[in-house]
Amino acid sequence: MKIIVTGGAGFVASHAVDKLIAKGHDVIVIDNLTNSSEANINPKAKLVQKSILDNLSSEFHGIDVVIHHAANVFVTKSIEDPVFDAQINIMGSLNILEHCRKAGVKKIIYANSGGAAAGENSRIVTESSLIKPLCPYGVSKHTVEHYLFVYNLLYGLKYTSLRYANIYGPRQNPRAEGGVVAIFIDKMLNNEQPVIYGNGGQTRDLVYVEDVADANMLALTKADNQCINIGTGKDTSVNQLFKTLKKILEYKKEPIYKPARKGEIIRSVLSPRKAKSLLGWVPKHTLEQGLKKTVDYYRQS
Ligand SMILES: NC(=O)c1ccc[n+]([C@@H]2O[C@H](COP(=O)([O-])OP(=O)(O)OC[C@H]3O[C@@H](n4cnc5c(N)ncnc54)[C@H](O)[C@@H]3O)[C@@H](O)[C@H]2O)c1
Repeated sequence: MKIIVTGGAGFVASHAVDKLIAKGHDVIVIDNLTNSSEANINPKAKLVQKSILDNLSSEFHGIDVVIHHAANVFVTKSIEDPVFDAQINIMGSLNILEHCRKAGVKKIIYANSGGAAAGENSRIVTESSLIKPLCPYGVSKHTVEHYLFVYNLLYGLKYTSLRYANIYGPRQNPRAEGGVVAIFIDKMLNNEQPVIYGNGGQTRDLVYVEDVADANMLALTKADNQCINIGTGKDTSVNQLFKTLKKILEYKKEPIYKPARKGEIIRSVLSPRKAKSLLGWVPKHTLEQGLKKTVDYYRQS
């Protein structure tokens, strides 16, 4: 297939690009490299260094599927400047959808955030849980799902919205916000102490990036017109994460505890049941396996 991957130089989508190339697909990456590097891109993919807000008519000619990951991924930026966030995440996505419609693209796979859309939820989040975002980023990412529904209804564009949990793995930027695994490994490899906000009991659903890339591959041909969680369904507390990394890295120091950050979600776990039944997706990596691969990557880079 001929496939456009927006944000394909970034952390998550660059792994999807690798899998697409390995399966023999023709891949065009659209990325303005604002939060990534060309070094992440598989050399067999073609990079078009443009914004998702630009005119992309020539790039969309003859495209079968679009995998849309380009976004403002910074929650803090979305709080400081909700208009900027909406411009990229809503208007940029709408521009991509318009190009899909005009070029007769058959399907779009969209990278949504399950945690950001659900907000605070003490239960395991399913696809029918209440949508209650707590930041502009959560609003902008979720809004696009409504457009996906309407573009399917009105113009027949098929979609799958993948609602991701907290993804970790090689190529995650340790200096960016949110990537707790990358931040901890970076600190620990430099023999510095990672900071834990609050008592460390807050839990996350940590899913390994190659498993997420597999979900994108499955969505090429399955789960049309569905929104699907991509998570493990398992809670990992920040303290547990630290302990597991401590063992893998044979790290000797303790973390620094600081007061809890305002608005931090206490529990964020996504049910993977729908992903299993509709995509046939189950995460292949245990936390320990994924962390070992991630540590190996940061040791070498
Ligand atoms: N990493 C996670 O845990 C996670 C969780 C939930 C959802 N997501 C979603 O997955 C997607 C990928 O996230 P990521 O963690 O790989 O982030 P990332 O920042 O590594 O990737 C995003 C890519 O988009 C590019 N980009 C930004 N603005 C652009 C624009 N205007 N035009 C073209 N390219 C632009 C960046 O340069 C970057 O390469 C995002 O849509 C994000 O919202 C990620």
